[in-house]
Order: sequence, then structure tokens, then C-alpha cells
Amino acid sequence: MAILIKNGEIINATSRVKADVYCEGETITRIGQGLEAPPGTQVIDAKGKHVFPGFIDPHVHITLPFMGTNAKDTYETASKAALVGGTTTLIEMCCPGRSENALAAFSHWLAQAEGRSACDFTFHMGVTKFDASTESDLLEIVRRGISSFKIFLAYKGALGIDDSELFSTLSLAAKRGVIVTAHCENETLIAERSRMLLMAGKTGPEGHYASRPPVVEAEGVHHLMTFAELTGAYTYIVHLSCKEALDEAIAGRKRGVNVAVETLIQYLLLDKTWAEKPDFEGAKYVMSPPLRDASNQPVLWAGLRDGTIQTVATDHAPFDFEGQKRMGMGDFTKIPNGIPSLEERVKLLYTHGVRTGKIDLNTFVNVASTQAAKLFDLYPRKGSIEVGADADIVVFDPEYRGTLSAKEQHINVDYNAFEGWKIEGRPSVVTVRGEIAAKDGEFVGSPTRGRFLKRVPNRA
Ligand code: URP
Ligand code: ZN
Ligand code: ZN
Repeated sequence: MAILIKNGEIINATSRVKADVYCEGETITRIGQGLEAPPGTQVIDAKGKHVFPGFIDPHVHITLPFMGTNAKDTYETASKAALVGGTTTLIEMCCPGRSENALAAFSHWLAQAEGRSACDFTFHMGVTKFDASTESDLLEIVRRGISSFKIFLAYKGALGIDDSELFSTLSLAAKRGVIVTAHCENETLIAERSRMLLMAGKTGPEGHYASRPPVVEAEGVHHLMTFAELTGAYTYIVHLSCKEALDEAIAGRKRGVNVAVETLIQYLLLDKTWAEKPDFEGAKYVMSPPLRDASNQPVLWAGLRDGTIQTVATDHAPFDFEGQKRMGMGDFTKIPNGIPSLEERVKLLYTHGVRTGKIDLNTFVNVASTQAAKLFDLYPRKGSIEVGADADIVVFDPEYRGTLSAKEQHINVDYNAFEGWKIEGRPSVVTVRGEIAAKDGEFVGSPTRGRFLKRVPNRA
């Protein structure tokens, strides 16, 4: 059924216009004032509301096997949560173990999503080793529609790669125009510092920060910049958390390195004191890089405003507090890393970014949707309201007032890191390729509508 969204204000990354949007089939086919709709059209009155392009979360974990356990979500739970929160496309990290074959892992990850997702999805292909079969596997994966890789400079002995593997991955990516997303922390420093902290009896969640202070992340970014400079690869730093790391990325850029930067909603809003909560509660807030000193937050907001930082993601990594986070009682290195927030990102960024005047509406759309579409070869199909684009639309009610709570969330985790936080504004209608998927905080769509988005690398 066709959809007409009337009387709203369309906000794209660089424009604001009061106009109606008409969607036929899966596509936006008309934009203009006073559009008429044929009988049978579903009409949505967006008076007083913002009309945004569907939001994109470029860094999500759903079924990650990690630190001796598995992330708790499935595509059934995560994709519905994403849509209720206004995210219509997610990019999951496909992360094979070092003993796994890349192509087999890719097929496995794809099978976990296909026919089970309510929202559109794609993957960053994790390169967790580089051996004789890796190059041909990766090239086949690119042919199958993947245009970005993921590497870890952290997690020694698990997902992390060594410098020869880093060089090979970046060289291959540079040749094929693939962008490489990277977790930047120096893994040796983390391992050594963790050992020393545990020996000194510092075993609680707050030890996690001490094991990887800002300079450890800055060193990781510097390392990536050096390798990117010499290989010519396009790079994207995931979950950048602090000024020291951002300075290294800016220095790389000044030398001509192609680098984009992602920060997370968690780093913009939470600081390291959350991981110091008593009675092991701090474990809920253990992630890597760790939550930082609050003095970093104005730096990150400024980076979003001036374009130094391109995207705001979640690094959604859902582990229960009971049963999973508790595995690290008595040893912080065993606390599964991650703070889930797939469902909350858009509402929190709007409430704490737009409503407080830290970012304007165009920047909001740019960092939460358009930039991810551009960087990851989805634009202009995704990331913009324009004729010919997929009809992924968020009609957003700025007058809504509510409170976040685990009791109401759709993800499959037993806590909400933002429990009790007040929200000002939320998606009221969310469409996926021309079909309504969510309304006023509830999923109402087709659970299997989501599609694998094939991407072609578009870099020279
Ligand atoms: O703490 C985090 N970030 N957990 C997920 C895995 C990763 O490093 O992205
Ligand atoms: Zn990471
Ligand atoms: Zn991640």
C-alpha cells in the first residue's frame, strides 16, 4: 500500500523543508507541497513532527561469540528493537574466531540474519587472521556484497591481529577500494597492565579503565594511522572515546591519511564514574575502550559539530548482568565487554544533543544516518529523503516525554544502562522500504522484511 506523509518538516543532512513525502512500493517517488494521494493510500499526518531518513547504526554486535560467552540478541530481537528506536539499517560486525575460515564465517553470519531480520542489514567483515586462504576468501566476500572490513588491534589471542596481518589486510583493502574499520587499542599494553593490576589486587570493574587509559587508545590510533599512511588504505576508527585518540586521528588526516571517526552515544553521555558503581554494578558499564573522564565529552560533541567526527554508533554488545557480566567477579578481565544501546541511540542523541543545543537537526541526521550511508556505500539509497531513495522514514515526535527502562525494551538483556533516564522525543512512525514497522514505541511490522544490503566498494 502506498504511504503519504503529510504536513511534516523533512530534515536531511543539509536541508530542512516543509513538504509531503509519497512512497510507492519500496521507494520514495514524490516530494512536494500539498501532494494528493490516490484512494487506498495510507496517510500519516506529521504536523508538528520531524520527518527524518531512517537512521543507520554502523557498529552493532548481535550474536558475537566473545570472552567465553555469546552476545544475547538474535536478529529477531535486535532488529525489532532497532526499528522501535528509529534505526532502519544496521551494520553488524562479522567476527570469526582465529581458527575459523572467513568465507564460512561470513556464510554463517548471513544465515543468522537472512529471513530473521525486520530491518535492513549488512556486515563489516572481520579479518581476525591473515593466512594463505584469507585473501581469496575476502575477495569472494567482497564479490558477495561486502565493502568494508573490521580489524581489532586489541583482544590479544582472540580477535586481535598482528602487524603483518594488519599490513596485508590494509594493502588488500587499498587495492580493492574497501574501507577498513578498526578497534584501536594497543593490545600488549592492555595485557601487561591487566596482569599488574590483578597482581596488585585491583580486580573490580574499575580496574578495567586503569588497564587501558587514553594513551593506550591513542597509541592504537597512531599505529593504524602509520600503517594506513604507508598502504594508502581508507580507514574508519570505531568507538573513539577520548581527546588523545582524536588528536592522533586528526594528525593522521593532516598527513593525508584517509580516516573517518566514529564515536558512541555511550561516550557522549556516560563517564568512567559509572563503571565505579559499588557492588559490582559498575560491570554493566564495562566496555572497550572504557568510559572516560567527563572532560572528553565536550571534545566529542565539538568533533560532531565541526565534522572531525563523522558518526555516532552504539557498538551494541548485549550481555546480561546476571550470568554474563558476573563471570568477571573477582577478575575484571573476564567481564564481557559491552554496553547495549541499539534501541536508545536516536532518542538519547536527540534528547541530549538536539534538545540541549549541542548539535543542530542537520548534524543529528548527518551523524546518525547520512555519513554512515556515504562511508559504507549505501548512499543515496539510504541516509537521505529524496526521490528514488528507499522509503525508510522516521516520523519523529519532539513533544513525547518518557523514561527509559529495561522493563520496556525489546532487546534481550536483563538491564538498561540508561535506566530511569528521561527522554524528550521519540519515533512515532518508522517505515522500512515503504511498510510501517514501528509505531509509538511498539513493533507493528513484518518480522522478516529486512534485507541483506549488497554493497560495492566505490573508492578509487
Ligand atoms: O566493549 C566492546 N566494545 N564490546 C564489543 C566488542 C568491541 O570491541 O567492539
Ligand atoms: Zn571494538
Ligand atoms: Zn564493536
